[in-house]
Amino acid sequence: MEAVNPMQEVLDHITATIGQNPDRGTTAQYIPDLANVDPNQFGIAVCLADGREFHAGDALTPFSSQSVSKVFAVALALGKVGDSLWSRVGREPSGLAFDSIMLLERENGRPRNPFINAGAIVTTDTYLQGSTPKEALGGLLRFVRDAAEDGDIHINDAVARGEMETADRNFALAHYMKSHGNLSHDPQLTMGTYCHQCAIDMSCLQLARAGRFLLGGVNGLGPRLVSKTRARRILALMMTCGHYDGSGDFAFRVGLPGKSGVGGGILVIAPGKASIAVWSPGLNSYGNSKLGTEAMEALAKAQDWSVFN
Ligand code: DON
Repeated sequence: MEAVNPMQEVLDHITATIGQNPDRGTTAQYIPDLANVDPNQFGIAVCLADGREFHAGDALTPFSSQSVSKVFAVALALGKVGDSLWSRVGREPSGLAFDSIMLLERENGRPRNPFINAGAIVTTDTYLQGSTPKEALGGLLRFVRDAAEDGDIHINDAVARGEMETADRNFALAHYMKSHGNLSHDPQLTMGTYCHQCAIDMSCLQLARAGRFLLGGVNGLGPRLVSKTRARRILALMMTCGHYDGSGDFAFRVGLPGKSGVGGGILVIAPGKASIAVWSPGLNSYGNSKLGTEAMEALAKAQDWSVFN
């Protein structure tokens, strides 16, 4: 489907208005390298299903993908073990913060979905099976690079180390799940892999390109890394769980599946139409990019994009 409005004009306008909003939220404070990122940055990139690409603002500046990486991780884990992943992790929104431990006790160490931290740690533990962390991360990077058709995507070791040093809460989740038999590796090993996964750096343009694998092979765009059914299911999870306890609000305001990260990035898919990445480091109270969410709301409105059309 054609974009309703000239895409470059829309992106330039969003960057000049929303991108300049002084009320920008707060950078993630619990990971040292993220706390120090300049909050005045804003970038947005769109890859249309017909192959055209557009970007504006700081769209070529790499940032920490953080939880956006969970989209690629779940695709990799599903590729490895198929639907048996769902015996270890659910497919329901949690209605709680991304790092909450509350439901884990009630639900016997089986996390609600693969996008909250507990579920993502199990997902990492799954694609780690039978490999060293280095091999497993190599496989993940290969997936992301293939998806983006870009070999210049890397893990930021300083961010990974900083997160590892402050990961007490994630370690608690990992140990708790291990006590329920829902972690196959030593928590140190799974957590080390998880923290490096979260530390994959990408620019908006790289991320939007990487997200094309969820467009379902429209017009043969991008490499076909997952089946159409699997892409649809990942999108369903992004719609219902991709923004944690802010998922309902994001669906209400944007109407498209998206996955956020505390680095301030959001990957959004307009199914069959576009893969979109937006980045602004300041976060709202849910831990999702404040201006990124506002920008996506404006873009979806300008192009009349919604899965509810
Ligand atoms: O597990 C963590 O705390 C981070 N590495 C990732 C969290 C994250 O990005 C949550 N997103 N909004």
